[in-house]
Amino acid sequence: MTRQSRQGSIIEGPRSVGAPNPAVVNAAMAEELEAETRIGPDGIVRSATPDTPSIPLVKDIVPTYRLDGHVTIVTGGSGGLAHTLSQALVAQGSQVALVDLAVEKLARVERELREFIKVNKLTPVNISTWECDISDPQEVEELINSIPRDHDGLIPDKLVHTAGYCQNVAAHEYNSRKAEHLVKVNLMGSLYICQAMTRQLIERSKRRRSIATLQGSIGEAVPQFPNASFVLIGSMSGLIVNTPQPQVAYNMAKAGVIHMVKSLACEWARYGIRVNAISPGYIATPLTKQVIGASPEGLALQEQWTSRIPMERMAEPKEFVGAMLYLLSRSASSYTTGENLVVDGGYTNF
Ligand SMILES: NC(=O)c1ccc[n+]([C@@H]2O[C@H](COP(=O)([O-])OP(=O)(O)OC[C@H]3O[C@@H](n4cnc5c(N)ncnc54)[C@H](O)[C@@H]3O)[C@@H](O)[C@H]2O)c1
Repeated sequence: MTRQSRQGSIIEGPRSVGAPNPAVVNAAMAEELEAETRIGPDGIVRSATPDTPSIPLVKDIVPTYRLDGHVTIVTGGSGGLAHTLSQALVAQGSQVALVDLAVEKLARVERELREFIKVNKLTPVNISTWECDISDPQEVEELINSIPRDHDGLIPDKLVHTAGYCQNVAAHEYNSRKAEHLVKVNLMGSLYICQAMTRQLIERSKRRRSIATLQGSIGEAVPQFPNASFVLIGSMSGLIVNTPQPQVAYNMAKAGVIHMVKSLACEWARYGIRVNAISPGYIATPLTKQVIGASPEGLALQEQWTSRIPMERMAEPKEFVGAMLYLLSRSASSYTTGENLVVDGGYTNF
């Protein structure tokens, strides 16, 4: 794992390199404090609605999708889907740490993201880029430990995990090493990044006493991270078998991701960490558009796919932004965990 960009910070105003930016840290701390005040002396988490019957404030019932003061890790950061999702993240005020194997593409994505901020006159945020093989647990651990140094010391508590790839090989001809590698990247990589982020959050709580705790079943103090939300990109291939292309290893891995999300959600609910999946149908990313447009066979394949989609078209990457923001937003989805949000134009209903 190597850091690709040292001058990731474009937050305005003078500050020394590596020193936390007070404005950003304060926003995150204010949210933590708010979380603490909602935990009563009896350890019960209070809802946003006041106990006394009165008219609630709009902010207590209508969710916000702003992500100011947070760092979101976007894996597969050079990819087609991640490109659009990262734009939405910076538009909502999140700092982003882009992670990918394809570093040369990462540099381009970073440049385009800065351009996006400029053109849309958005408040600048920290952007960092990182080369990491998500299937290597050691590299992932190092990555997670390094990211806060480029983000004002903030610990990332939001994840958008898109890293992965697909292979179309007939099952009886699938080379075992190739199939294993795909499963290692798509499934094990998903586990490694979630594990490393949760370890870091728990480790930090041991150093910072201001982090709220609840009492566990055996009386131990359990640290709370109510802002932590991990969103993993699964696929409808984890639920159905795509045809006509053979892709057994991909289908296995994505089914594994969906069930892994449910398992982690159950284990980490006690920490307030939410873990969810978004399962897309066919997306018209630059890559798929290129494949489909390259030959008559590609076009015929697209026709077969769309003939099975009730909405009769592939998705655009921007059609996943709403699902992502819903799942990342604490106020919108505080009671949603272990969910697999299928966004497939109706394909899996057929
Ligand atoms: N495109 C679709 O039709 C479609 C449909 C359903 C699900 N998905 C899923 O959505 C996600 C994003 O897809 P996309 O269309 O943007 O694909 P993409 O190929 O454009 O992006 C995936 C990114 O993951 C990176 N990556 C691959 N192996 C890696 C590794 N070992 N470590 C780190 N990074 C690695 C690649 O370099 C690439 O930049 C994937 O998980 C994919 O399976 C895509």
